Amino acid sequence: MSNQTSNLLPKIAAIFQQSFERQPQLYVKAPGRINLIGEHTDYNMGFVLPAAIDKHILFGFAANNTEEVCRLRALDMNGSYECSLKDIQKTEHSWVNYLLGVVQQFQKRSIEVKGFDCVFAGNIPIGSGLSSSAALECGFARGLCELGGVTLEKWEIARIGNQTENQFLGIQSGILDQFSSTFGAKDKVMLMDCRSQTFEYVPLELGNCCLVLINCNVKHEHTTSGYNDRPSECKQAVELLQKDYPNIENLRDVTPSMLEKSASNLPQTLLNRCQFILAENERVHQFCEHLKAGEILPLGELLYQSHHGLQHLYEVSCDELDLLVDFTRNIPEVLGARMMGGGFGGCTLNLMKKENSHAIAKQILKQYTAKTGIEGEAYFIDIEEGVSVV
Ligand code: GLA
Repeated sequence: MSNQTSNLLPKIAAIFQQSFERQPQLYVKAPGRINLIGEHTDYNMGFVLPAAIDKHILFGFAANNTEEVCRLRALDMNGSYECSLKDIQKTEHSWVNYLLGVVQQFQKRSIEVKGFDCVFAGNIPIGSGLSSSAALECGFARGLCELGGVTLEKWEIARIGNQTENQFLGIQSGILDQFSSTFGAKDKVMLMDCRSQTFEYVPLELGNCCLVLINCNVKHEHTTSGYNDRPSECKQAVELLQKDYPNIENLRDVTPSMLEKSASNLPQTLLNRCQFILAENERVHQFCEHLKAGEILPLGELLYQSHHGLQHLYEVSCDELDLLVDFTRNIPEVLGARMMGGGFGGCTLNLMKKENSHAIAKQILKQYTAKTGIEGEAYFIDIEEGVSVV
């Protein structure tokens, strides 16, 4: 058990005892994720390169011997909620909706969920682009399986999480986050083809370099609506491109020469979106090849290129993220940086020399605060395994 898990466990046990007068029968741990490269490619059926990290949510569960009573406690939000499993409705509490959405997915699959109690707490900063929501969905889904004596494949757990977002919460996200939280492996990144949903583990060996996350601690209002605009723009682009290429189904099927030939049929914004996705898919492969060959320097350049596209073509960055990336350009120890995740706030991913990395992160944060008045945060992460029963 990692240190961080052992810190959370007694807290959960104590609140469980206090709230429900007994101990949990089961603990499940679900990590957040990073994505090295391949942003917004998932719902375009392209490629991603994520890993699970040593920040997670820990859940304590126990059956409560009722048919339908569900009692939930969220320690970090100081929230509690009780409802009937026979009447799943959206609530005004976002954290509750993630969990009830998962219950609904079980019910849609005709998997019975009986009464239970659950307490959870975590250390994944919320709204930081590290997928605390996927950890919530996938860890909770795994717990419900264990409680009910049901075995579901990891992919099914990931899909339950993703469909919770798509169908219950109205977020048109792809499978990246739930895949990462579920399939993560110690010290490995995963090259995943989002169409075939096949993947390979690749050791994350960065020599004398390391990854550092810097949280701009900003989450812009349009986080969800801005995100949802992108899948619908990509769909519109595919529909326009289908006039020339009726066989394409996703941007994944479009090559650079096809896009060039049809460019005049697309409004500039949609053309930009397509150009980014095509280039980003290509960068995932290049990144992976360099990583496998132990060539670290070019990885940094690919990160900068990805950020450039996310900023100017895909337009999902924000001033705070751009500043954080720009500060690194004059620091020789930083090989590359980019915004990570859905965008409009959250973290940048920085590839830098291990030596002095703490001092460098501090320097970036200092410049950031001086310019914006906002306190950012740096996280030195390790790559960990995916959802597990503790
Ligand atoms: C969010 C979504 C993912 C993915 C990323 C961007 O994290 O939940 O499905 O689209 O943004 O790569």
